[in-house]
Amino acid sequence: MQELDYLESNRDRHIEELRAFLSIPSVSTRSEHAGDVQAAADFVVQQLRAAGLEAVEKHSTPGHPVVTGHTKPVAGAPTVLIYGHYDVQPAEPLELWKTPPFVPDLRDGKLYARGAADDKGQVFIYLKVLEAFHQVRGGCPVNVKVLIEGEEEIGSPNLVPFLKAHKKELACDVVLVSDTHMMGYDTPSITVGLRGLTSVEVTVQGASGDLHSGTYGGSVANPIQVLCEMLVACKNPRTGKILIPGFYDDVRRLSAQDRRKLAEAPHDDEKFRSATGAPALFGEKGFSTIERIGARPTFEVNGIWGGYMGEGLKTVLPSQAHAKISMRLVPDQDPQSIAKATEAFLKEIAPPHVNVTVTRERNQGDAIWVDADFPAMQVARDAVRKVFGTAPHLTLEGGSIPIVANFKKVLRRDTILLGFGLPDDRLHAPNEKFDLRMLDRGMKTVAHLLNDLATA
Ligand code: BES
Ligand code: MN
Ligand code: MN
Repeated sequence: MQELDYLESNRDRHIEELRAFLSIPSVSTRSEHAGDVQAAADFVVQQLRAAGLEAVEKHSTPGHPVVTGHTKPVAGAPTVLIYGHYDVQPAEPLELWKTPPFVPDLRDGKLYARGAADDKGQVFIYLKVLEAFHQVRGGCPVNVKVLIEGEEEIGSPNLVPFLKAHKKELACDVVLVSDTHMMGYDTPSITVGLRGLTSVEVTVQGASGDLHSGTYGGSVANPIQVLCEMLVACKNPRTGKILIPGFYDDVRRLSAQDRRKLAEAPHDDEKFRSATGAPALFGEKGFSTIERIGARPTFEVNGIWGGYMGEGLKTVLPSQAHAKISMRLVPDQDPQSIAKATEAFLKEIAPPHVNVTVTRERNQGDAIWVDADFPAMQVARDAVRKVFGTAPHLTLEGGSIPIVANFKKVLRRDTILLGFGLPDDRLHAPNEKFDLRMLDRGMKTVAHLLNDLATA
């Protein structure tokens, strides 16, 4: 394929363009960055136009814009919808970055910047492959529709309505998403499952204001202590089982065959443990690490606060305690019902000496398991094999991309999760990077895939 030569000979320019994309601090959760989020959308618009796409548009929403466009129609060829996101997570804590998060730094063949792997670097793969097809053969061999959003990192609140409103324009045969990772540079994989997500915030209120812990201590409950007790009641500390009534009711069970297949993937618990830095692994009893991450739900306290946290001692009996809790879900758990069950349980176990309020957050999404054998998936598995030299493993990942379940629900189409990140890319953390060898292989794989889909 001549496109592969084109990509190689334009590599330096492409990397400069990727640096420009990564220099835009498009942090979707921070209102002070709203202008930067717009600038990142404009960058995508301009790139898509340069790649020869038609009807390229930046659609405003109540939040950040959605960018769409499509290639020149090819009669009789299948239609692929490509989804990605140009927004990024906040870069804090800044002091832990070796080089500033929005000044991309190339070290040892890896580009370091916030969003390098999640997801700008991976979106960039498509921008350049489309450019290559446009430059080399005047158009793409299949019909490509592009949908790039700016709110993935805040749960895509405006994309579901957008999808429903533009159902006809976005009609396709298959969806293609590169926003996950492979097992390793020499251990290619395609993701066939993502977890869902739901979250709540809980406040425990004791006295109406902070009290002297000597004058009142022993006579009034301590809300921080009560909150901890309530959290323990939600998850068994020994077995890791979640104790919220009904929590596991809809969990799709793994068949013996599913478990055998998962166990085939190369995984080493000790290596995995050492990469995390934890002194030992811990998870739900009766399941392997791979199963705990890919196929079992979790209950995770993301943050907890209250009382005095400054220097030295303060003998205070605090009036409030707070916790943020998120739960990763698996098919067929319903995020809304799980959040409601959690709220109900927390209120039920609240002792009479405190008041408990629970708010359900809007960051929600269904888990998804994708069929590994439909025709376009076969083409993708083949494309990976051609470029990586070995057939991809099929993995269940623990992260969430909330919109993917909606591609099935609204568009009635399956998604191929063809990610090119690596497990040590440090998504959402300081010193996020994207390995440029994965950029190269990603471009090659996508070029083969789009080419081969035309004749599949
Ligand atoms: N790209 C990630 C999801 C991901 C990461 C999937 C690694 C598989 C492996 C995505 O950008 C993300 O961070 N999603 C959030 C969703 C949330 C903000 C609604 C997540 O998983 O926490
Ligand atoms: Mn992402
Ligand atoms: Mn992310």
